[in-house]
Amino acid sequence: MQTQIGLDLDKAAQLLIEGELVAIPTETVYGLAANALSAEAVSKIYQVKNRPQFNPLILHVANLFELKKYVLNLPKKVELLIQKFSPGPLTVLLPKSELVSDLVTAGSSNVAIRIPNHPLTLDLLNRLDFPLAAPSANISGTVSPTSAEHVFEQLNDKIPYILDGGETSIGIESTIVGYDDRSEEITIHRLGGLSIEEMEACIHEKIRVDIHHDQPTTPGQLKSHYATQTPLLVGNIDELIKDKNSKEIVIINYHQLKEYEVKKQFVLSNHNSSAEAAQNLFKIMREADKCQAQYILCEWAPEEGLGLAINDRLERASYTM
Ligand code: TXA
Ligand code: MG
Repeated sequence: MQTQIGLDLDKAAQLLIEGELVAIPTETVYGLAANALSAEAVSKIYQVKNRPQFNPLILHVANLFELKKYVLNLPKKVELLIQKFSPGPLTVLLPKSELVSDLVTAGSSNVAIRIPNHPLTLDLLNRLDFPLAAPSANISGTVSPTSAEHVFEQLNDKIPYILDGGETSIGIESTIVGYDDRSEEITIHRLGGLSIEEMEACIHEKIRVDIHHDQPTTPGQLKSHYATQTPLLVGNIDELIKDKNSKEIVIINYHQLKEYEVKKQFVLSNHNSSAEAAQNLFKIMREADKCQAQYILCEWAPEEGLGLAINDRLERASYTM
């Protein structure tokens, strides 16, 4: 099956109704979508992505009214965040209603759910009478796709259709938050496209980051993820480059381009902006990977705004056993 790329919403909707997979644009990364209420359709996601069965999927819905159908109840504080940041890069993790199958949540009683902020996908969701289960549209463990072309590179022949919504605006996955009934606290389980500072300003309290590296609350948060084929080393470029053959090196600078005699150099942000760096991160990682270098050397981002989420991705992408 040759994969087609286009803007045909009728076609995308029809395929999804028939239980097929369609790659969809969101503001974060492209998703690989299926009818979340069909076990057969959802199981295709696991096959195509080569995704371990223990790793649950995020549900995508068009609005708050729809979201409420798939959770048992919506705590006030979580609703406040949704009102402020949805549609947008916010995923909430809450006890699921009986409409959500165990296949989507990988047996967990909690469901992760969000309202994506992309006009095409919101239009698509409004045409369907079911939510979409959608992980990032990449093969498990590799870099997430931020354009239709990225999806095509990995999934050509494996899915019938890619809905082309251009390059994604945020560029890294959504921030996943949970809620503890007893302490009434919001906790971050995955750093992502919505910064901690923005959320704290909304609910007027400190938010804890709870990312267990050995037993993550979100099973997909593996130590090794977003891996490039070329080994990626993160840190001080001058230190990292010392014992290497610079002709075989690719450098990813955060914002300031210091010239080195290397194979190729990239800059994540020309304006020292973590939002711009996040938007460029996965695209530049892919381009750097295509240079056939011995190593990719990359600088850490400043630990503020989306810099924390960028560093989280870099840490996993550079993880070696
Ligand atoms: O921005 C995003 O969130 C993108 C776009 C496509 O929406 N999606 C995405 O999905 O990043 P995925 O599957 O690549 O990552 C979802 C993460 C995984 O770490 C998974 O383990 C976790 O969310 N997750 C999903 N459902 C969960 C659940 N019921 N309980 C705990 N973690 C869950
Ligand atoms: Mg993913």
